[in-house]
Amino acid sequence: MEKIPILRIEDLYKQFPVTRKFIDRIKRSPKQVVHAVDGVSFTVAQGEILALVGESGSGKTTVGMNVLGLQVPTKGRILFDGHDVSDWATGRLRSGKNGDGLGRLSRRKQILSLRRRAQMVFQDPYESLNPRQTIWEIVVEPLEIHNLGLRANEKEARVRAALEDCGLAPADHFWSRYPDELSGGQRQRVVVAGALVLEPELLVADEPVSMLDVSIRADILTLLQSLRKARDITIIYTTHDLATAGYFTDRMAVMYLGRVVELGPTVEVLKEPRHPYTQALVSVAPVPNPRKRRQRVILQGEVPNPIDIPSGCRFHPRCPIATDECKKTDPPYVEISAEHEAACLKI
Ligand SMILES: Nc1ncnc2c1ncn2[C@@H]1O[C@H](COP(=O)(O)OP(=O)(O)OP(=O)(O)O)[C@@H](O)[C@H]1O
Ligand SMILES: [Mg+2]
Repeated sequence: MEKIPILRIEDLYKQFPVTRKFIDRIKRSPKQVVHAVDGVSFTVAQGEILALVGESGSGKTTVGMNVLGLQVPTKGRILFDGHDVSDWATGRLRSGKNGDGLGRLSRRKQILSLRRRAQMVFQDPYESLNPRQTIWEIVVEPLEIHNLGLRANEKEARVRAALEDCGLAPADHFWSRYPDELSGGQRQRVVVAGALVLEPELLVADEPVSMLDVSIRADILTLLQSLRKARDITIIYTTHDLATAGYFTDRMAVMYLGRVVELGPTVEVLKEPRHPYTQALVSVAPVPNPRKRRQRVILQGEVPNPIDIPSGCRFHPRCPIATDECKKTDPPYVEISAEHEAACLKI
């Protein structure tokens, strides 16, 4: 596979104001912020499936929201197909190069066309579908919103292809039904179809199977994998579950407290994790390769508060091999192999 980056994230930061309730509880100054994403950089190649894994609160959803222009980054750049989309959410769009000479109207058009090219699949198929809309209405809606000027038969062809590519075939068997007439797995297929109908090139699938019954999770992941083949789509799959990530992703980025601590080919990261945090996650995950099962590493303590990121290496308070140096020095990335890197002073 030729590796053309469709997405490049450069030193992304996203901070949120601390709510009053939170301040009272921890008695901190109101100037403090939640460091949700704290210096994240990675690229995603065209047609690749990247897993973004980490415990709850590590910043996975925030990365996805910023990539799709649903939030404005505090700092950093996001380049989608060479265009700087960091301020999508504000309606502005900068060129990745030095100014593209576009007027306001063409810039708006450019934003809309780029927005179509990147879509999100949310976690909960029960919440993301309106129970009063038929499957047809749900899947055709993005086409209406984007006002693509399609004729009725073109719309029908798009909805049919989206539903059938998602395993809901024949499409007309499903489109007059309502969500509560479908199973959980079928509903999640409808959610995916609603994202696909705009024919996006990038899909951010945010915990798309965590609300589903274990028995149907693999079906939905196989579906995502098949979309890459059928539509050459690029996917960012966010999850806290290493086992499902190991099942179908090409590369894996492991996040801890807003930072990617290890990034590499999924097989390599699961087989030979190098960051102590990844090693701990892998040691307790039901990932394949039982012969090489390591001793279980149970991490001590809780994930620290993202208002107060620990000094030096942010993982040091919980790290089983931390030394004094780790309290002082923020570790740079160490290259392990051509595509594999980890941020730890002890490598
Ligand atoms: N809108 C917001 N306002 C304030 N804090 C936020 C907001 N969104 C996220 N956060 C905080 O930012 C941090 C990262 O949150 P995020 O939802 O990105 O994590 P996540 O890795 O997706 O977690 P999960 O696995 O629970 O979905 C958390 O501490 C969260 O409480
Ligand atoms: Mg999340």
